Order: sequence, then structure tokens, then C-alpha cells
Amino acid sequence: MKKILFISGSLRKESLNTDLLHQAAKSFDGFECSFLDYGDLPLLDQDLEFPPPASLVRIRQEVADSDALFIASPEYNRSYSAALKNLLDWLSRPVAPGAYSSVVIKGKLVAVCSVAGSSGGSYSMEKLASLLETLSCKLVAERTSIALGERFGKPSLALTDDEASALGCECEAVKSMLADV
Ligand SMILES: Cc1cc2nc3c(=O)[nH]c(=O)nc-3n(C[C@H](O)[C@H](O)[C@H](O)COP(=O)(O)O)c2cc1C
Repeated sequence: MKKILFISGSLRKESLNTDLLHQAAKSFDGFECSFLDYGDLPLLDQDLEFPPPASLVRIRQEVADSDALFIASPEYNRSYSAALKNLLDWLSRPVAPGAYSSVVIKGKLVAVCSVAGSSGGSYSMEKLASLLETLSCKLVAERTSIALGERFGKPSLALTDDEASALGCECEAVKSMLADV
């Protein structure tokens, strides 16, 4: 069974980005879906790399075991979250000094989406896509953008028909790219 690892750029308990990922997961019938918990990852410090922190060992394994990552991030000041940047920086590092072929995120299929304010995460998704390209990830072209408007501050995310359809298209694109692998 193919595995999708969902990653929210928001650590907030009532995160609407996490909510969006849970709605996306419903489209992946017949796939193994899991959600990455990385709140215990320390800030990247090269003094901590070898031996790696226990949280990083677990997270690397979860990423290595997945066939695709599905990332949703809020937009903070026109970029993606610092928590997500920290995670991706850790994932860009080798498991042993100089062992760059062991970089776990390299070549991974990644889908990106965002729930944000008026921009709908367009700026942050652009920057995130650029970072993922730098990490040699394979990007899904479809992106779901949700501009909250009056839904700001709500405990859950009600999608419009157009948003639900965009999310559905992105999920289908992931499935078809995985079928080609
Ligand atoms: C520090 C901060 C900066 C923000 N900057 C932007 C921004 O530049 N563009 C935007 O559209 N929304 C911005 N927002 C709104 C968040 O993207 C929005 O609240 C998002 O839904 C939070 O995600 P979450 O519900 O998953 O935690 C900002 C919010 C915070 C807290």
C-alpha cells in the first residue's frame, strides 16, 4: 500500500492547515495516511547533528517510509512557517558527515497547499516550492490556495465547492504521479 505523509506547517492545535490536510486525506482511500508530529524537533544547530536527536531519527524514518509528502502551511509575513523551514532544513542534512546520498527528502514527491489570509498563501507557496526544488523534490503542479476571509478564527474549515474541487484535483494529481512511479 502506498504511503502519504501529511505535514502541517502550523503547530497550533486548531490549525486550519491541519484541518485541510485531514480533508485531503479522505481522498486517499486505499493509501496509508499518517500525519507527521514534529513539535519536539529542536531548532537546527549543527552541533546537534551527529549523533542526531531522537526526534529527528523518528521523523527521518517516517519521511523515508513515505511515497509522497502532502504539505499545508500558513503564510506568515509572505513566507511559510519557521517550524516548517526548520523541519525541511533538518531533512536536507545527511545522516552521517558528508553522506549526501543519504538525504532523505531528495527526490520525494511533494504536494503543497495553504490556508492563509487574503493572499491564500500564494507568496508562501511560491517560496516553499522554490525551497523544495532546491532540495531536489518532485513537485506536484496543482496547488490548493485557501484565502480565509470571514472564516478567520473559526475552529474548523468549511470549504467552498471551488476549494473542495481544487483540493480534489490536487489529490488526484498526487495519485496519478504515484501510479507512474
Ligand atoms: C505572524 C503572522 C503573519 C501572517 N502573515 C500573513 C501573510 O503574510 N499573508 C496571509 O495571507 N496571511 C498571513 N497570516 C494569517 C495566517 O496565514 C492564517 O491565520 C493561517 O490560517 C494560520 O494557519 P493555521 O490556522 O493553520 O494555524 C499571518 C498570521 C500570523 C500569525
